[in-house]
Order: sequence, then structure tokens, then C-alpha cells
Amino acid sequence: MPFYQKRGEVPPKRHTILENPNGGIYFEELISREGFSDIYSNIYHLRMPTKVVDIGEFVEQPIEELKGKHRNRHIRTNKIKLSGDAFLGRVPLFYNSDLTIYKAHINKSMDYHYRNGHHDELIYIQEGKGRFISNFGTLELSEGDYLIIPRGIIWKFEIKLNIKALVIESYAPIRTPKRYRNKHGQHLEHSPFCERDFIAPEFNEPVDDVSEKLVRVRLNNGYQDFIYAHNPFDVVGWDGYYFPWKFNINDFEPIVGSIHQPPPVHQTFESIGFVVCSFVSRLFDFHPKAIPAPYPHSNLDSDEIIFYSMGDFMSRKGIELESITLHPSGIPHGPQPGKYEESIGKTKTTELAVMIDTFKPLKLAKSIQSIDDKSYSKSWL
Ligand SMILES: [Fe+2]
Repeated sequence: MPFYQKRGEVPPKRHTILENPNGGIYFEELISREGFSDIYSNIYHLRMPTKVVDIGEFVEQPIEELKGKHRNRHIRTNKIKLSGDAFLGRVPLFYNSDLTIYKAHINKSMDYHYRNGHHDELIYIQEGKGRFISNFGTLELSEGDYLIIPRGIIWKFEIKLNIKALVIESYAPIRTPKRYRNKHGQHLEHSPFCERDFIAPEFNEPVDDVSEKLVRVRLNNGYQDFIYAHNPFDVVGWDGYYFPWKFNINDFEPIVGSIHQPPPVHQTFESIGFVVCSFVSRLFDFHPKAIPAPYPHSNLDSDEIIFYSMGDFMSRKGIELESITLHPSGIPHGPQPGKYEESIGKTKTTELAVMIDTFKPLKLAKSIQSIDDKSYSKSWL
């Protein structure tokens, strides 16, 4: 995120000696994007962060594609079984060359360290409680939290109450929309959130542990295990603009108008190839002749995924909590029959939904086959 944070101990000047009071020095590591030309943080370790003892085999994680009809879909993701940890428990649903969308029903804490080497991750907590522990510090997670983990962060995830989460793995960074930031990076007055809403990690004391540790590294199409000579959570301090952070969907301040506001007012994150929007509880349009429900629309350049998180989504019927609808490009869609007219005169909506609009067509993963509501594509009759 483009604001400066500092935790623990760092030397007054970068790339200079930081003395270890127990003898010797601490070891600096630069974690940076776009070579040495973009956002970065410097972190300081008890030991060199490069001590690899052993390298495991590459384990492939191919996604089996479901070749199916081009149609609107309703996927009942609440039927996915609880299984696994925050990495291995992910079930792929939709994907293209920019992102993969998973649902994870997590019932195990990670007994290894994890790092995504090729993707940035966004985890939306639908239900449950957990603790994200990283080399930058800890974030406590609960319902409605978006957790943004840029690539390269080493982390573990502890479960306090079984978690259901929507997960995006992105090939490009995930940021807040550029139009909401000034030339210095600060969020503008008309932004639906600001820096106070973004929570950076609480710092942890360094772990001084020289027993070998497994760091599982996610790569394109699979993962590889590395055995490190010591615990990677040995950080005595860090500073910079690069770190994991969280933002709760309930801190999104909705933008409303006298007539229907289009989806960009709900935008929360941007990346290359997709955007993420938060539909939150809000007052409806106040023009005396306003129709609050959206008009039928054809998004010709995007596939639209909506995850229904809470409440009664005003334009849909027949969907359940944790349902996902896919409205692919090229097919007009809109409120189900009756919902358009029903919305007239209503003053507010109580709902939470996360929308992901992709700019390239999505492929379907075979895992959606058994939870696909086949009647949905004819639900506008
Ligand atoms: Fe839509």
C-alpha cells in the first residue's frame, strides 16, 4: 500500500550496520516490485534470509477445465466441504490468465510456512476467525475482512473458528483504484475509504529458532517446498510501503445518488485484468421516480462474478448465502422477473456482496460441476 509503515528496529540509514546487542549485526533484505523501480520494504533479520538447506520436488496443481455451455450460472458454494488449510484447502472455481478464483473452507491451521512466489492474493473472510502470522507481523481476521497479501510475504494461518473464504490469486498487484488516490498516493476526499480503514500488521518479536523449517512456495501451476536452516519469522524490524494489510467490507462507505449508481461506485480494488467491488448496505436512490434495482445490462467486455455474502440481494431471487453467479460477457442479464418493479419505492437495502469483473473470459473449473444450479440460466422467464 502506498503509505509508509515502520515496525521494530531499523537503522537510521538504509544499507548501514544495525548492530545485534548479542554480538554481530542484523541482516537486511530488500523486498521490492518491478525490479528496483517500484514499491518496496527493507526488513532486518537475525540471520541471512538465504539459507536454503534442501529443495523439494515441484508439485503440480493443474486445474481441470469444465467444458460447458456459454450461459449464465449459479454456483452453490456453501455445499463445498470443509477441508484443509488456507493454501491446500482452496477449491478452484473460475480462472483465466489474470487470476484464479477459489473458495476455501478451512478447518486446519498451517503446520508449515507459506509464500506465494508468483501471485498476489486477496482473501475475503465470509465466516469464522483466524490469525494471519507473517514475517511483517500479525493480523487477526474475522467476518467481512479483505486480507491483501502481496507476493513474497512469508506467512502461516491459524484457525480459531473454521473459516469460509473467497480467494483471488492474481498475476498482477491488487490495489485500491488509482482514481481515488492523489499524486502522492493518499486517498482523496471522495474515496469510499481512507488510510484509517486499512490495518497493517501488529509487529511480533523475532523468533530465534535454528531448527529447519519448511517454506512451501506457490508458483505458476503448482508449488515447491524449500527447507530453510532456521525460522523465517526472525525479523527484528522493517519499514517501507510494502506489507500485507486488511480492510473490512463494512468500512466501505457507500456512494449513493438520486438515480441508480453504476457498479464503479462500488469499486474497492483494481488489478490488471479485473476489478473487485463491494456492494454494502445503503440508502436507495431518492429521485421520486427512481428505479433502485439495476437495469438489464450487457457488459460486453467483462465476465461478472458476484459472491453473495450477507442479506437479501435486491436484484436476485433463488440465490443463497455464499452463492456465486457468473454472468459471462455477451449475455444480457439483470434483475429476475418482478425484482425490477418490486424495488420501486424501497428506501434501503441490507446486503453484502463481492463482485469480481474480469476483462478476459473466465474458464470454468470442473469443481463447480456438482454445485451448478442448472435452472438459473432460464430464471428470467
Ligand atoms: Fe451485472
